[in-house]
Amino acid sequence: MPSVVVVGCQWGDEGKGKIVDFLSAQADYVVRYQGGSNAGHTIKVRDDTYRLRLLPSGVIHRKKVVIANGVVVDPEVLLKEISDLKSKGFNPDLSLSDRAHITLSYHLLLDAAEEEFKGSLRSGTTMRGIGPTYTDKAARYGIRTSDLLDPQILEQKISQNVSLKQKTISQVYGSDAQISAQDLLSACKRYGNELQGYIADTSIIINEALDAGKRVLFEGAQGLLLDVDHGVYPFGTSSNTAAGAACTGAGVGPTRINEILGVVKAYTSRVGAGPLPTELTDETGSRLQEKGQEFGTVTGRRRRCGWLDAVALRYASRVNGLTGIALTKLDTLAGFDPVKICIEYKADGQVVKDQPSSVNVYSKCLPIYEEMKGWRDSSESEWSMIAKKGYEALPKEARDYVTMIESIARVPVKIISIGQTRDATITRANVWS
Ligand code: GDP
Ligand code: IMO
Ligand code: MG
Repeated sequence: MPSVVVVGCQWGDEGKGKIVDFLSAQADYVVRYQGGSNAGHTIKVRDDTYRLRLLPSGVIHRKKVVIANGVVVDPEVLLKEISDLKSKGFNPDLSLSDRAHITLSYHLLLDAAEEEFKGSLRSGTTMRGIGPTYTDKAARYGIRTSDLLDPQILEQKISQNVSLKQKTISQVYGSDAQISAQDLLSACKRYGNELQGYIADTSIIINEALDAGKRVLFEGAQGLLLDVDHGVYPFGTSSNTAAGAACTGAGVGPTRINEILGVVKAYTSRVGAGPLPTELTDETGSRLQEKGQEFGTVTGRRRRCGWLDAVALRYASRVNGLTGIALTKLDTLAGFDPVKICIEYKADGQVVKDQPSSVNVYSKCLPIYEEMKGWRDSSESEWSMIAKKGYEALPKEARDYVTMIESIARVPVKIISIGQTRDATITRANVWS
C-alpha cells in the first residue's frame, strides 16, 4: 500500500505543487487534506503554467483527485478552477468529501474584519476566509458539502449563521456590510447542483484504493511554520499543516502512511506577517526575491526572503517525522557566494537551538550563520542537462549543500529540483518503494 505524504517544511511556497506534479506520474490518486484556497500551487509543463488553489496537483497528470474532509472549500473558487481546467482540455476526475466544510461570503467578510481588529497581531492572511471557516468548524456552526444536498438542514444552518454573523460584523466589527440569507441560500443551492456529482465519502475511496495496492499521494498545503499548533502562533494559518493532518484530514489511519517527504526550499521565503529570523532586508534579499520570482501565487504579494533556517528545518523534520526531503530551487541559490545557513539563534545573550513557543522570544532571535561556498549559475537549459545527467553532474559545492541539509534534517534528500519544469528534477531515491 504505497502512500506518500508531501508536506511543506518552511512557511509555504516551497514548491509542493511542482514536486506533487512530478510524483503524480507514478501515482493513482492525489489527495488534498487540509487548508483551502489560501494555497497556490504552481505547475509548469513546457510553456503552460497552472496555478491550483483547491484541486490537487495530480489533476494535470489526469489522475484521480480527491479533496478530502480536512479541506475548507470555497465552492466559487472550486467551480471556477474546474471550469478553467475544462476550457484547457482537462476534465478533473474529482471526488469531494461529503464532510468538507465550505467557505461562504460571510467568511471572507469576517477574515477582513478580524485582520483589521488584530492590528499588529494579524498574520496578513490571504483573505480567503480560511480562519473563519475553520472557526465555524470547531464551534460547530459549519456547513458541510453534504448539507448542500439537504434543503432542510441547509436552510436551518444558513439562517442560524446569518443572524450570528450579521450581528458580529455590524455590532462587533462596526461594518455596514449586509448579509442576505436569501442570496446565500440560492448560491448554496447552485453549489449543490453543480457539485453533487463529485460529492462522496472520500475516506472509503482512499482506503479502498490503498487496500487494492494503488499509489496514493497526499498533497499538503502551507508549511510547518504556519501550522496552528506547531507554527509561529499566531502568525500562521488555522489548520494543522504537519504530516499528521494527512490522516485526520483524509480519514486514513497513521499505519497506512509509508513515506513523508518534506519539501524544502534551498532558502527561506515568507508571504505575510510575523517574525522571520533569517530575513534579509538588504540587497542579497532583493536578489533572492527577484531571481526566485518570489511573489505570492494567491495574493501577488512580494515574498520576504532570507537564508535557509536550520532551526526551522530540524523542527519540521521532527514534527513531521520526515523520511526524506525534496529540495527545491537549488538553481535559484546558484551564483550567491558565500551561501549561509542559520545553525542556531541567539536571544538575550542565550543560545537558542530549538523553535521557541513564545513569539516574543522568537522575535528576539538573531541568526547565527555558518557559511558555505556557493556554486556557479547555469542557464535553464544547462540545468535541465544537469538533471538528465544526474546528481553527480551538480557542482561540488551544491552537493556539499545537499549533504549539509541531510545532516541537519537527519534524513536523505531524495529529490532535487533545479528548475520549474518536470525535466529539471533529479531523483536520488524512489519514494514509492
Ligand atoms: P507551493 O505553494 O509549495 O506549491 O509553491 P508555489 O507554487 O507557491 O511557489 C513555488 C514557485 O517556485 C513556483 O513558481 C514554482 O514553479 C517554482 N519552483 C518550484 N521548484 C523550483 C525549482 O527547483 N527551481 C525554480 N527556479 N523554480 C521552482
Ligand atoms: P501554499 O500551499 C504561503 C500565510 C498567509 C498568512 C497566514 C494565514 O501555497 O504553500 P490564511 O489565509 O491561511 O489565514 O493566512 O498564512 N499562508 C501562506 N503562505 N503559502 C501558502 O500556501 C499559504 N497559505 C497561507 O500569508 O501569513
Ligand atoms: Mg504556494
